[in-house]
Amino acid sequence: MKKEKHIPLKNYEKFSDNKSLEISELFFEKMNKRRSVRTFSSEPISIEVIKNVIKTANTAPSGANKQPWHFVIVESNEIKKQIKIAAEKEEKEFYSNKAPKEWLKDLEQFDTNAKKPFLEIAPYLIVVFEEKYRIGKSGVREKNYYTKESVGLASGMLLTALHNVGVATLTHTPSPMSFLSKILNRPANETPFLLIVAGYPKKGTVVPNIKRKMLNEILTIF
Ligand SMILES: Cc1cc2nc3c(=O)[nH]c(=O)nc-3n(C[C@H](O)[C@H](O)[C@H](O)COP(=O)(O)O)c2cc1C
Repeated sequence: MKKEKHIPLKNYEKFSDNKSLEISELFFEKMNKRRSVRTFSSEPISIEVIKNVIKTANTAPSGANKQPWHFVIVESNEIKKQIKIAAEKEEKEFYSNKAPKEWLKDLEQFDTNAKKPFLEIAPYLIVVFEEKYRIGKSGVREKNYYTKESVGLASGMLLTALHNVGVATLTHTPSPMSFLSKILNRPANETPFLLIVAGYPKKGTVVPNIKRKMLNEILTIF
């Protein structure tokens, strides 16, 4: 049977103005509680939860529907250890030689350094890869479009879905991240995009005392 080119929009939900105001306020309150944490507990989390949040990320819009992302869940202690060793090597270089003074100054408020113990402690590392192009069936390169924008949107939805189930995250970007492609055996058409640490916060976790911008600083209405 021939595939229909268009199908009816199913399960679309519309709310009254009052209801959507209420829902939007509640959702803002929930999302406003999201913070990046840098101290994790090793308490396990079901992998089914992590697979579900990745299914959610996979609902993101993407340029020409190319869905140019790949997610790797790392739960193996051995692989986490390899990632920690490689990340700390890059971070040592960054903090001691590569980082410009201004960048280091901007990072002071976070008290971060080259040591990344959480990479071995948290139950999951989720590595997001950006699929720069695809290799088609015949072995020819095929284009993807707006890959950064698409993978950024999917990653935001991933963080939102994790926060929604009470899983704390750290968006981590040891630079450069090419060691992740090697350790995780990913093909050359994929570039590491983000390393997301996921788990419950360690008891007594503290976070930097930083502020979010006010609406009038980030919004213009014509
Ligand atoms: C693209 C990106 C890269 C980041 N890289 C790091 C990182 O390598 N190490 C780190 O400790 N935090 C990193 N962060 C976390 C930010 O410092 C954090 O999101 C920001 O300070 C705001 O704090 P909040 O997430 O608690 O709201 C990164 C965040 C983003 C979005």
